[in-house]
Amino acid sequence: MERKNSTKRIFTVMLSLILLIGATACGNSSGQSEGGQDTIGQIEDHSAGDSTVDSAGEPVVAERETGTEAEAPENTADGVGTSNILIAYFSRVGNMDFDEDIDAVTSASVNMDGSNVSGNAQLLAEMAQETTGGDLFFIETVEKYPAEYRGTTDQAKTEQNDDARPGLSSHVENMDVYDTIVLIYPNWWGTLPQPVVTFLEEYDFSGKTILPLCTHEGSKMGRSESDIASICPEAQLLDGLSVRGSDAGSAQTEVEEWINNSGILE
Ligand SMILES: Cc1cc2nc3c(=O)[nH]c(=O)nc-3n(C[C@H](O)[C@H](O)[C@H](O)COP(=O)(O)O)c2cc1C
Repeated sequence: MERKNSTKRIFTVMLSLILLIGATACGNSSGQSEGGQDTIGQIEDHSAGDSTVDSAGEPVVAERETGTEAEAPENTADGVGTSNILIAYFSRVGNMDFDEDIDAVTSASVNMDGSNVSGNAQLLAEMAQETTGGDLFFIETVEKYPAEYRGTTDQAKTEQNDDARPGLSSHVENMDVYDTIVLIYPNWWGTLPQPVVTFLEEYDFSGKTILPLCTHEGSKMGRSESDIASICPEAQLLDGLSVRGSDAGSAQTEVEEWINNSGILE
């Protein structure tokens, strides 16, 4: 009897130990997923709001290889007014200096299709164009951003701190013909890239509808919607959609649904 009891005690102690180890392991695993978030946790909130940045203060992005041919996409918003919907978009690709040796540069938010390179915002703009039949307009800067990723993030940060208005080389011929603007941009330091601010201030959006789509690597819309609302107080701002850059290529259905639900096609 005594022996049976001590076996039972040993068994109970062992079971408790197993449970304790198990619980610790679980704690660790949830710690790890928070560890994932810890990586996000190291991310400091820069003045930009909810920027997702790494410990060095750099925005977090998916790293991909770049290719050689990156030209500013063609604009179809030539003022002819084939549609009352304008899809205006800004992207790093088309707005940076690709040098000859670009293959050697590891970069982000670049999609390769053969030798063609497109930014995430461009992929999304093409999806929006397919859904709406709207005119495409690429917001292009006079001065290009450095091809090297960090050079761009640094420059963008300086522009944001200085509240700069980078000059644009592309202009919508006749904004009057558009009553709806699907505005597509990457999240830069928690909000709109400064060239998009230049774009929004260049035209009168009073009475027009703006549908914002932000591509990002963690910060989602950031504070871009409230920034658009304060730059264009007389525009009707509809609910935005955020798409992670790495998901941009497969976001067709999501973009379609968002546009259909927005009511702009009715
Ligand atoms: C200058 C710069 C700043 C960025 N800041 C952020 C940020 O604050 N939060 C975030 O989630 N992603 C940030 N990103 C990542 C981009 O928003 C993301 O990669 C996006 O999909 C790029 O779109 P694009 O290829 O059209 O330029 C930043 C990228 C750059 C180049």
